[in-house]
Amino acid sequence: MHGSAITQHPAPVANAASEGALRRSGISETLLQAIRSGEQPLEHASTLPPEAYTSEAFFELEAERIFRRQWLPLGHASQLRQVGDYFTVDLLGEMLVVVRAADRVRALSRVCLHRWAPLVSGPGHTRRFSCPFHKWAYDLEGRLVGAPLMEQVDFQLQGRCLPEYRTEIVDGFIYVNFSGDAEPLGPQLRELSESWRALAPSNWIIGTTLEYDCRINWKIVVETFMECYHHIAAHRQTFEPTYPARLTHVEEGRAAWTLCHAPARPELPDTHLCAGFPELGELSAQERHEFRLYLIYPYQLLNVMPDRTFWFCLQPDGATRTRFQAHIMVRRDAPEQPGYQERLEAERRFLVLVNDEDVGVNELQQRGAATRAAMPGRFSHLEKALWQLASYVRARLQA
Ligand code: FES
Ligand SMILES: [Fe+2]
Repeated sequence: MHGSAITQHPAPVANAASEGALRRSGISETLLQAIRSGEQPLEHASTLPPEAYTSEAFFELEAERIFRRQWLPLGHASQLRQVGDYFTVDLLGEMLVVVRAADRVRALSRVCLHRWAPLVSGPGHTRRFSCPFHKWAYDLEGRLVGAPLMEQVDFQLQGRCLPEYRTEIVDGFIYVNFSGDAEPLGPQLRELSESWRALAPSNWIIGTTLEYDCRINWKIVVETFMECYHHIAAHRQTFEPTYPARLTHVEEGRAAWTLCHAPARPELPDTHLCAGFPELGELSAQERHEFRLYLIYPYQLLNVMPDRTFWFCLQPDGATRTRFQAHIMVRRDAPEQPGYQERLEAERRFLVLVNDEDVGVNELQQRGAATRAAMPGRFSHLEKALWQLASYVRARLQA
């Protein structure tokens, strides 16, 4: 196994303030030690302690030091084609509306400035947001533009805006940064964007979406997405016959993302990997014969196949709950092809099936992690992306 001793995510030098904050976070001594421990080569490495998947204090630490400081996926630009298109996302206790304003896509708090009613829910299209409680109105930039029956008190509309969060669109995906001071994401993903140039993810659209609300820690969702070791058991009738676990391999980690290759059995024709949609872009011979699992830290997940992509968009919600949307993405012109709806329906049924296989085993895993007998488990070489994620989490929690 080559190169696995490389430290993927060097921990910043711990300073006294961050050390003190770690101690005050209320996490156990076991978790403190796990965060501080140096990285083992994959050949000798184990998972984080099971408590890292069940402890609310640990989740709060992850929220503060990872989620609020990093770029988190919210959606895809294709969901907001026209000025006035919006969708809503609840994330880390905030209630957002993501809207295409005249100048750019904005992520605003959708909590009314009057007495906090959420202004909208679901996706939609509007010229302005009107509160369902007392009809205060906001334009697409989040400015308060109407407040009925407020003339008899000392109140001006001017200068009142819904709080806005920083967004960035990279390869068509919309990301938010709550702290406002993350390094720009585009440059961090430059190598990835280059490798995706022929696939043009900005030109993909969401064909269909499955919604999940699971009693599972967010890292379990990421880990199960990023390893194919479990094809041999959990997916023995779905993925294993085409994409055998033993053929999969994970690239050396990058600071901001990683990649697992899952080649199909060599004897299978390329057509066996397709669902009948137009190819996503110009593909190499290798791309035609495998699927690729991408993780952009901390939890943006994409399974790229020759003619479609499964995109999991997560909303971690406490140590033992994760909501996510499993989207099937296709090329923008795919719906124009004859038979599109039937193919999409067949693919949707397949995704329901494999996700049920994953969620079923993951909910059991989550319960096992909460037992006193549970201990860190050893990684297979096929779980390299999990070893990389543990390294990322440890490094970020020390910062
Ligand atoms: S809470 Fe929105 S107008 Fe009163
Ligand atoms: Fe799976």
